[in-house]
Amino acid sequence: MATSAKSSSTKSAKPRRTRRTGRRDPLAITLLKADHREVEGWFDEYEQLEADSEKLALFNKIALALKVHTQIEEEILYPEERGEVEDDMLDEAYVEHDGAKKLIAEIEAMKPGDEYYDAKVKVLGEYIKHHVKEEEQPGGIFAQAKKGDEDLEAMGKRMKARKEELMAELGGKQPN
Ligand SMILES: [Fe+2]
Ligand SMILES: [Fe+2]
Repeated sequence: MATSAKSSSTKSAKPRRTRRTGRRDPLAITLLKADHREVEGWFDEYEQLEADSEKLALFNKIALALKVHTQIEEEILYPEERGEVEDDMLDEAYVEHDGAKKLIAEIEAMKPGDEYYDAKVKVLGEYIKHHVKEEEQPGGIFAQAKKGDEDLEAMGKRMKARKEELMAELGGKQPN
């Protein structure tokens, strides 16, 4: 006797709608887009900061969010969308994640006030913006995933749980 994980009814308290089409995004996409908006806001905020202590605190927040987000995509979204999303696009996304991780590690080895610290944070922000576009643009990874057969509501629930675990795990290991 197999137990069914299928839920008989799906209800959502708040409809999530995309700005352009008015159509609701599935949970997995909603969560990932929310992460994107959050970190974009933090990069903008960074530009306004003067104090090194504030810069360090905000960069640490950005770094943690990006580590958790990229890991969730690499553990869940990207592998499960293999076959639904073009291979080249997924391959490039992994390479872009690696590039971002290297830059994050470089910045973590430095301190605010060091030569190129602000420049590296700025370039990381631009790099992330480019990557986010590849994921969110029409025909991009998210759009292709939405057309596929994967259950993006169920995937979203797993992502949420994994995010909590990773925030606790990686958040405890913050350098500062
Ligand atoms: Fe990504
Ligand atoms: Fe992403």
